[in-house]
Amino acid sequence: MSNILIISDNEVLNSLYTVNLKIYTDSKVVTCKSLEDAIEHIENHENEIDLVYSLCMIDEEDTALLAYHHLIENEREIPIIVIGNQSEAPDEVSVVGNPYDIRGIIQSAANTFGVTAKDMAEKDMPDFYPMPIRMYFSLTLTPCDTFYRVREENGEFSYHKIFVKDEAIWPKVKDYLDEGISTLYVPSEQRFSFAKQVTTQLIDDLNGIKEDPKTKVGVKLDKVEQGIETVAEQIFDGEMTKEVIELSNQCMDTIVEVLDDVPDLKGILKELTANKSGFLYSHSIIAGFVASHALDNIEWGGESHKEKLKFVLFFHDMYLTSVYKNHPELSYEDKLIFDSNLTEDEKEIVISHAAQAADAIKRYPKCPMGVEAIIRQHHGTSNGLGFATNYKDDISPLAKVMIISEAFTEEMLKTIQRGEKVEIPVILEFLKQSFSKHTYVKITKSLETLKL
Ligand SMILES: [Fe+2]
Ligand SMILES: [Fe+2]
Repeated sequence: MSNILIISDNEVLNSLYTVNLKIYTDSKVVTCKSLEDAIEHIENHENEIDLVYSLCMIDEEDTALLAYHHLIENEREIPIIVIGNQSEAPDEVSVVGNPYDIRGIIQSAANTFGVTAKDMAEKDMPDFYPMPIRMYFSLTLTPCDTFYRVREENGEFSYHKIFVKDEAIWPKVKDYLDEGISTLYVPSEQRFSFAKQVTTQLIDDLNGIKEDPKTKVGVKLDKVEQGIETVAEQIFDGEMTKEVIELSNQCMDTIVEVLDDVPDLKGILKELTANKSGFLYSHSIIAGFVASHALDNIEWGGESHKEKLKFVLFFHDMYLTSVYKNHPELSYEDKLIFDSNLTEDEKEIVISHAAQAADAIKRYPKCPMGVEAIIRQHHGTSNGLGFATNYKDDISPLAKVMIISEAFTEEMLKTIQRGEKVEIPVILEFLKQSFSKHTYVKITKSLETLKL
């Protein structure tokens, strides 16, 4: 077994390197987050070191060059590999330019230790299935090995193990979230047992939330987002188990509580931003707030509509989670079909997501009458396929409320993205023009009293 020292202050890179070097080169890995720690480690001759990796710059200092000097001064003839391109280290020192080039990192260690490509290829990889990173949050230990996906220079994906089964999830998972990573990968055959485990845990958590009236809105929203993703993982393949139903019910009730508790749009936005919620979830919650306001202020609105609304909010875009999981950077639904990043299969899902969700909800026990139709019509077409360009009167009134609420949400988020101030009257004027039939205008008018 060889010994590797890594000098890097980047936690995510450290865990990626550690796991991969352990797996592929069978090495023992020590990480030091600063040059000082590394020097202490190098100066102690009891520490065996066969190879050193150093990020070129830590805190604006050429750490790699300084580490190289310390190795020479301490008469330790140890090869050093520089990660990144900014170091002034002499030419004989090897460099891996891109810190995320995991293959390059492994290859350089393999060259040093004489491990062959064949040895490495024999470490066979299973097929991987994307899991939203949030699905890990409620758990303490990983239910199965977990991987991080990297796109190589040749465009192919490679998968690097970051958690082994039964490893502690916290606080390590936070580093990945902080890096903006929203999806991790598990071996495909483990996906259902993983989702089942998360389901049971979330049901417990939501029960706890119910019993504690002081639970913060942010915590509730976070659990519901985990819940949506967990349910989505299971209903695609026809599993509507009693646990999935229980979790869905708990999530829907929690959404209603939140919508009743938060006084204004700003409050909701703040919580969603703090939670780093994905677009799909954020837009449903904001639209839910807007739609509840409409139902409170339109003459035909009542409690039975709100009961239906909670089902619609929870399930209407459930089928899109598989698309957003692979493309977390994307937003507005109707633009997705023109996006060149989406595969043809993904575009099919986008086009038919309303119809598919409507078909799935039919299997849901005790689903209120009419929910299926509203979900089917939530993009303005009566068959649930595609996106209407011309909004007509041939759909249910509650579907119209949903359409106006989602359009309001989209306009508001776009205004924020442009860095402009949100003015409700401006958005309402836009809606009146885009949805000019008087049944739609009535709904838009009910939003005049909405509080920012
Ligand atoms: Fe949708
Ligand atoms: Fe939607």
